Amino acid sequence: MKGILLAGGSGTRLYPMTLAVSKQLLPVYDKPMIYYPLTTLMLAGIRDIMIIATPADMPQFQRLLGDGSQFGVTFSYRVQPNPDGIAQAFLIAGDWLAGHPCALALGDNLIFADHLSVLLRAAARRPRGATVFAYQVRDPERYGVVTFDEDGRALGVEEKPENPTSNWAVTGLYFYDDRVYDFAQQVQPSPRGELEITDLNRFYLEEGSLHVDRLGRGCAWLDAGLPESLLQASQFVHTIQARQGMLVGSPAEVAFRLGHITADQLRRHAEKMKKTELGRLLLELSSAGHGGHAL
Ligand code: G1P
Repeated sequence: MKGILLAGGSGTRLYPMTLAVSKQLLPVYDKPMIYYPLTTLMLAGIRDIMIIATPADMPQFQRLLGDGSQFGVTFSYRVQPNPDGIAQAFLIAGDWLAGHPCALALGDNLIFADHLSVLLRAAARRPRGATVFAYQVRDPERYGVVTFDEDGRALGVEEKPENPTSNWAVTGLYFYDDRVYDFAQQVQPSPRGELEITDLNRFYLEEGSLHVDRLGRGCAWLDAGLPESLLQASQFVHTIQARQGMLVGSPAEVAFRLGHITADQLRRHAEKMKKTELGRLLLELSSAGHGGHAL
């Protein structure tokens, strides 16, 4: 399975922070925001990843992430010239996808859960259909919203409904089978002129192959789209790291634990940031070995 990290959009809800810097490069506590969804894709077992960004922001993403070898993965880059919608990512990536199944992670979505990799790998392994994750929120009108029947089956998905029929929001992490490119080609622009990811999901829903995994109480889903949610995300990461000494959203850590990079490679990467707590934790990890921590 391949993966796309989408870092488009103009981040107008974070102005003036995003006037000169891409939203997905803003810090979430001690790392650039995009590290978190990148780590999520890696935890799903994905190593071939395309980063899609605006033409203006692309050089910064390339400077930050390079070819991926420091994390034992491969990065490709493509621009999205205009913010024409999330589903457009599959059209932009079409020839690179070459009929592969694909996961998509939005660059501003952070998901934390115990045993997240188990959940993600199960979604990545499903041979047919699509998998999305739903999370209960207090402000569903800001998101794609899914309605369930009494047996917990998904009945409908709607993008930013004025009067939401449930408080289950669809998170910005999607797994699709090898038909995603064909379905994406059929999506028509919405009234706001975008190719909506919710319309793509509806194709799968209507043929009965949209799996909606509900994330429970023990999970945290944060989107960093507003100043307040950006702060909440930073505080969350800080709390876990300070209390437990465990890293959240570190692609280098995940790469090492998954065996994508050696202890030597991790040490070289960590040396560059040894003045930081993050660097020190990575250095400790490189000399302590895998340590048996579950991801
Ligand atoms: C997008 C999707 C929406 C989804 C959300 C998750 O919204 O359109 O369905 O719930 O991401 O973050 P946007 O970020 O474009 O407002």
